[in-house]
Amino acid sequence: MKQRLQKIMASSGLASRREAERWIEAGRVTVNGRVASLGESADPGCDRIAVDGRPLKSEEDKVCVLLHKPVGYVTTMRDPQGRPVVADLVKDLPLRLFPVGRLDLNTSGLLLLTNDGDLANHLAHPRHNVDKVYLARIRGVLSSAQAGLLANGIRLEDGITAPAKVERVRQVGSHSWVKITIHEGRNRQVRRMFEAVGHPVSRLQRLQVGFLELGALAPGRYRKLSGQEIMRLKGL
Ligand code: URA
Repeated sequence: MKQRLQKIMASSGLASRREAERWIEAGRVTVNGRVASLGESADPGCDRIAVDGRPLKSEEDKVCVLLHKPVGYVTTMRDPQGRPVVADLVKDLPLRLFPVGRLDLNTSGLLLLTNDGDLANHLAHPRHNVDKVYLARIRGVLSSAQAGLLANGIRLEDGITAPAKVERVRQVGSHSWVKITIHEGRNRQVRRMFEAVGHPVSRLQRLQVGFLELGALAPGRYRKLSGQEIMRLKGL
């Protein structure tokens, strides 16, 4: 199927549409060996599209990995401060992957990395409401009224949170464990939600994204998603 060149390039995870347009205007993009012009369409299934002479990734080159991000790793591919980054954990893959969303430095758990721009956009889009399940260790014990506040939506400085699922798991001494399911992805959202009801989080782990589970994957390890899992994530 024919599509605009900038859309094809954005889907391949290479650049944003805007950036792809600039590359086309600069004459860096070719279709079947001929320099392309802005506004042109091509069929990624049969046309040879290249940037600076390098062919675009085909569907088969697209991968998504499920990583167990350990505490202490920054969710970026490079860190100017030299801290450990999630890219270090997938460096045996000869691919340029980027994280889908982010986990805080001190949060561990399920993090997806991909070179598939379509998949990343799909998962990030609020319309798709992808559930994310977290296990939080909080100070004190959450009352059922406080659990209700978190479940119905609570006012944070950037607005009221969307309804969440809250399950009080167990109490251990002066702390307790709570499972919370949200589909928004605001900065430090889970930590801020618990802070807002007076129970700061001392440990946070993401257990699930959509139907994908962290399972028994050890911290720092990853696995590649199957083609079927990727199709399911895209809702295909
Ligand atoms: N909420 C947080 O507070 N931190 C994360 O890393 C993810 C969600």
